[in-house]
Amino acid sequence: MSTHRVGVIGGDGIGPEVVAEALKVVAAAGVQLDLGHYDLGADRYLRTGDVLPDAVLDELRALDAVLLGAVGPPVGSTAVPPGLLERGLLLRLRFELDLYINLRPFNGTGPGGDIDLAVVRENTEGTYAGEGGFLRRGTPHEVATQGSVNTRHGVERCVRFAFELARSRPRHHLTLVHKTNVLTFAGDLWQRAFDEVGADFGEVETAYNHVDAACIYLVEAPGRYDVIVTDNLFGDILTDLAGAVSGGIGLAASANLNPARTGPSLFEPVHGAAHDIVGTGRANPLAAIRSAAMMLDHLGEADAAARITKAVLECARAGTGGASTSEVGDLVAERV
Ligand code: IPM
Ligand code: MN
Repeated sequence: MSTHRVGVIGGDGIGPEVVAEALKVVAAAGVQLDLGHYDLGADRYLRTGDVLPDAVLDELRALDAVLLGAVGPPVGSTAVPPGLLERGLLLRLRFELDLYINLRPFNGTGPGGDIDLAVVRENTEGTYAGEGGFLRRGTPHEVATQGSVNTRHGVERCVRFAFELARSRPRHHLTLVHKTNVLTFAGDLWQRAFDEVGADFGEVETAYNHVDAACIYLVEAPGRYDVIVTDNLFGDILTDLAGAVSGGIGLAASANLNPARTGPSLFEPVHGAAHDIVGTGRANPLAAIRSAAMMLDHLGEADAAARITKAVLECARAGTGGASTSEVGDLVAERV
């Protein structure tokens, strides 16, 4: 068995705590990783002024995968300029490594029954692309634009990934979520790409929801969804909502994927650094552990990935009660 080279970015706040539990569970599942630790995030920035040096990015490029805990300063801290780590580290990694899919699975019991859905969020375009700017900034007549960039290539590869995922799941159902009634240019491109790619997937049943309606359905009847495909910003918002209705953000895992495998993919819990609970043992490591399972799946360790995911979902269902961060890690480790 070859050893997978994995870059670990514990990051800030509870990031290192939850990543340690994820690595504990991976080891318990019998998968060997060749780990390299990377010091990145708010702490590193405050110490050195570096966000993501090119040399570090080049090292990451050569790895098989990256596991990230969380990055960001404490809420309310002004020491790190707003958006610096988001744009300079997280989004830069998504763009540079071409992590064009953000896959976020949700399982739990919600209003109206069981939830077993996955959101496929386009991860390199839309309003996140950085298009736009200011005119006459700081004057009473200033103008700020922030356009949504949607390329045929980017939309199509995202939609195709979503159809393939839907085909692999028992329900074979895929919903496009957008706002085609108002965003008529971007929406038209998404709808046409969806219909055209869908022609290759006759066994997948499709639906379309406007994003505002999808918010209602996610709250009132999330069980209706199997796979959702959507753009970057809608996906950002919908996945926080889906996390909230399916057991809380402490369970929400994500995979930032480069399905073409031209470089490593990156795996991270959806939650942030939660500086307020650092060192208290209250951080829930299940999202990080499930993210590590997604990483193993991507690395070809499907069996270990399935065992870990099953154990995480069992622990989530049973409730982790008053168990501490490391006790939850132990509980999952015992079950794999
Ligand atoms: C997420 C986060 C990021 C995003 C931020 C931190 C840049 O909210 O992964 O969902 O908006 O994508
Ligand atoms: Mn988000």
